[in-house]
Amino acid sequence: MSVTQTPITRELFNEVILPIYAPAQFVPVKGQGSRVWDQHGKEYIDFAGGIAVTALGHCHPALVEALQKQSEQLWHLSNIYTNEPALRLAQKLTAATFADRVFFANSGAEANEAAFKLARYYATQKISPYKTKIIAFHHAFHGRTFFTVTVGGQPKYSDGFGPKPADIVHVPFNDLEAVKAVIDDHTCAIVVEPIQGEGGVTPATPEFLTGLRQLCDQHQALLVFDEVQTGMGRTGKLFAYEHSGVTPDILTTAKALGGGFPVSAMLTREAIAQVMTAGNHGTTFGGNPMACAVAEASLDIINDNQLLEGVEQRHQWFIDGLQEINQHYHLFTAIRGQGLLIGAQLTPEYAGRLRDIIQAAAEHGLLVLSAGSDVLRFTPSLIISEQDVQEGMAKLHRAIAQIIG
Ligand SMILES: Cc1ncc(COP(=O)(O)O)c(C=O)c1O
Repeated sequence: MSVTQTPITRELFNEVILPIYAPAQFVPVKGQGSRVWDQHGKEYIDFAGGIAVTALGHCHPALVEALQKQSEQLWHLSNIYTNEPALRLAQKLTAATFADRVFFANSGAEANEAAFKLARYYATQKISPYKTKIIAFHHAFHGRTFFTVTVGGQPKYSDGFGPKPADIVHVPFNDLEAVKAVIDDHTCAIVVEPIQGEGGVTPATPEFLTGLRQLCDQHQALLVFDEVQTGMGRTGKLFAYEHSGVTPDILTTAKALGGGFPVSAMLTREAIAQVMTAGNHGTTFGGNPMACAVAEASLDIINDNQLLEGVEQRHQWFIDGLQEINQHYHLFTAIRGQGLLIGAQLTPEYAGRLRDIIQAAAEHGLLVLSAGSDVLRFTPSLIISEQDVQEGMAKLHRAIAQIIG
């Protein structure tokens, strides 16, 4: 096949990309704020933001400027050298959180991989070589590297790839008694999402998080919060742990950190960080100057009381819009979540129509997401306008009307 002759269409995906995704039938080519356009110029309202990534919408001018400026300055040097954007970003992240030290990586999975390795290394070096057990939760999602996908609580994603990393135990989410039944002095960490995102937008109860903190303290285990999806303003606080009053020992963040530029971070306290030594973990691209410059611009905008209060306000617009739709069609059993991580659970009658609803929404010019098998998920820009929310809700209303009549 002649490459120059090949039109770039959705069909080409089926020929050249590893068949692990099933992308929509249109190909987006441009985004601005909370609007996206496809190859045919059709316009969509974006209630997805990637998957909770473009927290300041598409092509935010401050992020574009930071990227342009850095792209003319320095692209990459590796971790044989440090660089100014990475140091500035680390300084700002530690100033804004419980943490003293940062490890930069490129994806959520990679930040979690570092977190789980750090937890095990800390426990085995400081306490006992047998202290390796990780406790995690059913329906949790922590990424797709083999360690992180095994810590995740959805075996369908980790089965079939050969022997799995060992000593990982899964128990039901929000069930403190189940954790008590498996935690012991060989436990090095409990890993939890403050709100399970991929698993169905299910918030951890405050009592559950408080209980996990106490159990970790009793057993000298580390509490790891996976804030890959909940972090960077998504829930109306810079990080979701701030709502609960429970402070983790290790926190990971990715997705919205770079507003669409791939970058992630693992944050921890000095005493834990100190167990690591030069050379016992690393990554080529971690702390890339362009990624860190964009993330710094993103953090500067998001770590602002007015912006975070705006997230709460937008939460209400979404809840109002979804409740209104539900008054007509009674298709949601629950509308839950925090800030702009919102899930609408479909009744058993409509759960099988989730894909159809998402496809109909796209036909009507709206991008929305699923979470699990029966939840419609909304993770829009944190600064989406009221007009975009109203227009998007009207499109969703029409799409649902088309599906269920
Ligand atoms: C809570 C959580 N952790 C980890 C990940 C993995 O992140 P990535 O896909 O960037 O590796 C995700 C992605 O959806 C996530 O939601």
